Amino acid sequence: MKNNPIGVVDSGVGGLSIWKEVISQLPNESTIYLADSANCPYGSRQCEEIYVLAQRMVKFLIDKNVKLIVIACNTMTVCCIDRLRRDFPHLPIVGVVPVIKTAALTSKNKHIGILSTVSTANSMYQKELIEKFSNGCTVINKGTDKLVPLVENGIIDGNEVGKVLTEELEDFKTEGVDVIALGCTHFPFLKEKINKILGSHIAILDSGGAVARQVHRVLEKEGLISVNNTVSHEFHTTGNTVQFDLVMGKVLGKEGIKMVKSVQKAAI
Ligand code: DGL
Repeated sequence: MKNNPIGVVDSGVGGLSIWKEVISQLPNESTIYLADSANCPYGSRQCEEIYVLAQRMVKFLIDKNVKLIVIACNTMTVCCIDRLRRDFPHLPIVGVVPVIKTAALTSKNKHIGILSTVSTANSMYQKELIEKFSNGCTVINKGTDKLVPLVENGIIDGNEVGKVLTEELEDFKTEGVDVIALGCTHFPFLKEKINKILGSHIAILDSGGAVARQVHRVLEKEGLISVNNTVSHEFHTTGNTVQFDLVMGKVLGKEGIKMVKSVQKAAI
């Protein structure tokens, strides 16, 4: 069991921003990544529908004998992580939420932004997190569904994404936030572009490091840290494998892509 892989799921390539941190902090762990590219984006779907899709993905990974699952998608986390934990009580499940507490502590002017998908921004789950962790800061909780399709197509630089980002980041500028927490795992791949638009005086925080640390803590607690030295990383998509491979190369860059072999079609 200790040497079984860690499963990582997302609607598409976004979860790779979490996967990257997991394999960097836990280099002796094997992973199986599953992207539901055929049904991406999730951000504009109803919660019930996302739950059904998420359940299917978890079952696929359980069949592959994973020892822990990372729900590397904020939208799935806020919508159904509690239900998934109830459905699969013996499987440790780690989710992802924006690092609101760190953002509030980092902010000097006590104005922070959160950038998520629309359904995440509107969710009760996220509103409760803001209530609990914003520590008196003014919070601009912005939702957008315009960015995920761009990242999904490998459009992370250039004029097209620049134009959309400039519009979507306007509220943060107007409110003078000095820290933005990213609430969608696709968005860390836009960090450079966001920095260019807003200036580097605004800190952009993603959740990758925190999720990887949590995975480490849970594995340790469960006695599941790998003692393996033959590590492998598998990639599955419900969509087009060639397209996924291409975009993966783009978002991970040269270093990340060294870890990747071939992408397999997931018939689920
Ligand atoms: N990566 C997913 C998230 O973190 C994207 C959701 C979507 O598919 O719209 O929310």
